[in-house]
Amino acid sequence: MDTDLFKNVISHAKEYGFIFQSSEIYDGLSAVYDYGQNGVLLKNNIKAYWWGAMVQMHENIVGIDSAIFMHPNTWKASGHVDAFNDPLIDNKDSKKRYRADVLIEDHVEKIRQKIEKEVKKASKRFGESFDREQFLATNGRVAGYQEKMKAIIDRFVKAMDAEDLADIKELIEDEQIKCPVSGSMNWTDVRQFNLMFGTQMGSVAEGASTLYLRPETAQGIFLNYLNVQKTGRMKIPFGIAQIGKAFRNEIVARQFIFRMREFEQMEMQFFVRPGTEMEWYENWKKKRLAWHKSLGFDESNYRFHDHKKLAHYAASATDIEFNFPFGFKELEGIHSRTDFDLKQHQEYSGKKLQYFDSELGENYVPYVVETSIGLDRMFLAVLSKSLMHETLEDGSQRTVLKLPAFLAPNKVAILPLLKKDGLPEKAREVTESLKLDHIVQYDEKDAIGKRYRRQDAAGTPLCVTVDHKTLEDNTVTVRFRDTMEQIRIPLSKLTAITNETVSLNAQFGKLSSFIDI
Ligand code: GAP
Repeated sequence: MDTDLFKNVISHAKEYGFIFQSSEIYDGLSAVYDYGQNGVLLKNNIKAYWWGAMVQMHENIVGIDSAIFMHPNTWKASGHVDAFNDPLIDNKDSKKRYRADVLIEDHVEKIRQKIEKEVKKASKRFGESFDREQFLATNGRVAGYQEKMKAIIDRFVKAMDAEDLADIKELIEDEQIKCPVSGSMNWTDVRQFNLMFGTQMGSVAEGASTLYLRPETAQGIFLNYLNVQKTGRMKIPFGIAQIGKAFRNEIVARQFIFRMREFEQMEMQFFVRPGTEMEWYENWKKKRLAWHKSLGFDESNYRFHDHKKLAHYAASATDIEFNFPFGFKELEGIHSRTDFDLKQHQEYSGKKLQYFDSELGENYVPYVVETSIGLDRMFLAVLSKSLMHETLEDGSQRTVLKLPAFLAPNKVAILPLLKKDGLPEKAREVTESLKLDHIVQYDEKDAIGKRYRRQDAAGTPLCVTVDHKTLEDNTVTVRFRDTMEQIRIPLSKLTAITNETVSLNAQFGKLSSFIDI
């Protein structure tokens, strides 16, 4: 784990108005965060990129925005009332509560790190002739660690499948997993804990009913499947996309905005003919990975992780994992959900949720392939890979947020060189004309160098300086964030250069390979 980078990301996010702790003046609310003036812009740009890539770029995908409140039977039908649980365990000495699966996962990760240590040692020893794959396949100590990891995971998956909570506790004891706080192994039994938040609708006198805050946005799509299919005259295969809030009473809420109790998901349910689901599952795995890679971060930051322990609704599932400052963790899930959800809602509602396939001349309940990405996790992924500290040629330091330009909160900063001689008035004029197309910042406070640094740290791709020459010949200096290169251009070219640098449309162009897959 890169502790320094992670700490820097968190403090930078606050200092530059990206993310604040919720209810900070009341000492905060655990695992709930607010997006500040720059954060909301970056978040909206991520949403726009996802929405554009999914809905705008695909003729057969449409979007909806369903309510957070849904009929309580939704969650009985979907299986969330019975099965949306995490196994929790308490340490009696520290009084800390943990997810049993996370304790086991962290333990396995420690063993994995031992393998990495062996690899490092060997690569030092063998130098250039070192072959990592061969070493992993042949080294005895590594084989021992791998066997141990496999045995732990297999036992855990078996115990979870059988809901054998006693064996999960025994596994924790057998592996001598200690409480990170007290260092003791004085554990309670493992219990199941439902992650949904309940609330009441209506007054008690009227007979209030218990509702749940949705733990996933997907169910709003399933409940609207028929409405959208009929009114949109959608032909299978087709998708319904949605971006919205989801809520989970996470036992262990940690790692900043990685695991929150209120968060946002960007989900798409793709309805397909039964029997074709695995083909579409593979297809969406490829497409989603291509979307991530299109952002330009190093490809080594992504990997797939297939699930052994499947969620109650899934027949196959994989995660796109991202190399966060605290290691590879789930960023997006791709699931083959079969006809589980639609069939369940059909049964609980008594309404047919079928599709008439005119090519086959038959009715069926469609199968579903889902792509589900956490918007906040995507935000964290982008922020942590963009934050850089550079030493410049003159030995000075700069902090720069090298966000993909089309995602940057503010696209251009307009800076009058001095706060006099008519320069602010001219700079305001430039701001007014550019703000018709882009989010623009006007900044006249402090020396120009300081203002450049401030914009670098907030991720603004372009700075435009208005000086005395501008008044004479209508030219300005444009400075590029990443290279710090400066060019002199006529004002008439400013919009074109800005569009070229920051436009979302140009990014969609790069995505054509994504669409074609
Ligand atoms: N509809 C399927 C579903 O909800 P999931 O794997 O539980 O699947 C999908 O969640 C994505 O939502 C995850 O990959 C993650 O990015 C995000 N997510 C889940 N729980 C989260 C939490 N507590 N905080 C932030 N993001 C979360």
